[in-house]
Amino acid sequence: MNSLSHVAIIMDGNGRWAQKKNKPRRHGHYYGTKNIYKIVNFCLKKKISYLTLFAFGLDNWKRPKSETDYLFFLFQDFIEKNLNLLLKKDIKIKFIGELSLLNETLIYLIKKTEKLSSSKNKLNLIVALNYSSKHEILNSFNQLIKQKKKISLDELSNNLYTSMIPDPDILIRTGGLSRLSNFLLWQSSYSEIFFCKKLWPDFNDKDLSKIISRFKNIKRNFGSI
Ligand code: IPE
Ligand code: IPE
Ligand code: MG
Repeated sequence: MNSLSHVAIIMDGNGRWAQKKNKPRRHGHYYGTKNIYKIVNFCLKKKISYLTLFAFGLDNWKRPKSETDYLFFLFQDFIEKNLNLLLKKDIKIKFIGELSLLNETLIYLIKKTEKLSSSKNKLNLIVALNYSSKHEILNSFNQLIKQKKKISLDELSNNLYTSMIPDPDILIRTGGLSRLSNFLLWQSSYSEIFFCKKLWPDFNDKDLSKIISRFKNIKRNFGSI
């Protein structure tokens, strides 16, 4: 049976979830954000060491300003309201993405969250915010060039935002689409990928539990036989 240390999730389908209920897309984002807590608790219960959540892609700036404004209001609100509880639950939080491009208030909040949770060790919660896998890889190349280092697979990996984090064992995308949308392209080389029809606000413990059971019995080869 496979051991499991890292689950990564593309939380897709908030907008369609709301539209199906004849509600504005923001209604879906609100309930999508609420759903995060349930999945975090489940990962704690299952003693999963790493959970990475794709919260906002660099490419999502193509959306209407009213939607991106609301999403960033939600992210900030989520951190402010839940930080103490997450700390109490011994969760270490790390953000990955083009963070320096975010607004000052959010950068401050991100730094504060990472600092306050740095000694926690039950679950590593990684939030991909303003994230683009291609930019992450490009940035890694540029770091190596700047340091005049020889470009190698190990060095490239070591200069990604995820350098201290094992590659995801399981990568889930909710919302019924089968694409990675610029998420962890390098790190997911050997991840088991699950495309789930359910829209993110409906995705629950049972769905994750079923995926984990399926994962445990997959024969992982990593190129071998
Ligand atoms: C994912 O849900 C959430 C973010 C991108 C922040 P969507 O907003 O993409 O929902 P759909 O895919 O349009 O239903
Ligand atoms: C991926 O979903 C981004 C997040 C879930 C944060 P999108 O809804 O943005 O992906 P595309 O644009 O449909 O590929
Ligand atoms: Mg989408």
